Amino acid sequence: MNIAWDADKYTSNFSFVPAYGRGAAELIASPKGSRVLDLGCGNGALTGELRDRGFQVTGLDSSKELLSVAEKYYPELEFILGDATDFSLKEPVDAVFSNAVFHWIDREKQPDMLRCVSRALKDGGELVFEMGGAGNNRLIHEAMEKAFAEAGYSYRMPFYFPGIGEYAALLEQAGFEVRYAVLFDRPTELYGEDGLKDWIRMFLSQTFSGIREEALREAIRERAAESLRDRLYQDGRWYADYVRLRMRAVKRGAEAGNGQPEGGRSGNRRPEGGQAGNGRSETGQEGSGQ
Ligand code: BEZ
Repeated sequence: MNIAWDADKYTSNFSFVPAYGRGAAELIASPKGSRVLDLGCGNGALTGELRDRGFQVTGLDSSKELLSVAEKYYPELEFILGDATDFSLKEPVDAVFSNAVFHWIDREKQPDMLRCVSRALKDGGELVFEMGGAGNNRLIHEAMEKAFAEAGYSYRMPFYFPGIGEYAALLEQAGFEVRYAVLFDRPTELYGEDGLKDWIRMFLSQTFSGIREEALREAIRERAAESLRDRLYQDGRWYADYVRLRMRAVKRGAEAGNGQPEGGRSGNRRPEGGQAGNGRSETGQEGSGQ
């Protein structure tokens, strides 16, 4: 991940990022008191919630700016400055949780990250995550591509948004068994009258690295956002066309492949309402008022 975060703006205008991660955190099956790593913890908002749910939680992030916010709000928690694709922990944990982080990591680096996650977990430990999934922000990236082309530049979509099958294969190659997977649409309300332009400024800043003049950058943001007004602006609010991939996978232990039911290993239980396979559900499942 290579982005300089504006920690204040992220915390004030983009608080939906951790807020939506709560649903994913509910998939954690490890019992209270378990040790959990919040991988890519950002400003610590979800790390604090995991602590409130009774876990012994540590946060890890590569942004000093966001970690300083996390440390300010949660001085009693442990935070580690580190790279998700190259980290190790002193003690293994029962669960690794991650929200809205994996899509920032290039496809080629995903196996490195999953290797680190596997090494950080006890045998039978679980990885629970949510990330942008196949088709995430498709309308926005198409509009950006067009606005860049009209200005004489080419646009490179900077994220990795896999589908269920593709990511399940990576997990299996890394020694995990997939226990839950869902890909679903989640139109996400943005903050303010310039919501989409601000979102582009915050999350797509790296795509403008070849354009020096701020006036041209602004014109591209404006053109992309305006071209989407009839599809992403409703009743006075902007929405981003998010598609989320949520998964839960268990690290195969020494007894791997013995066909035991999951409850027989490490005390992990299947999440309630858990759904294996590629179910695609509607926004209402999130209860988010979108
Ligand atoms: C996401 O959470 O899906 C996301 C956030 C920022 C940029 C792109 C995707």
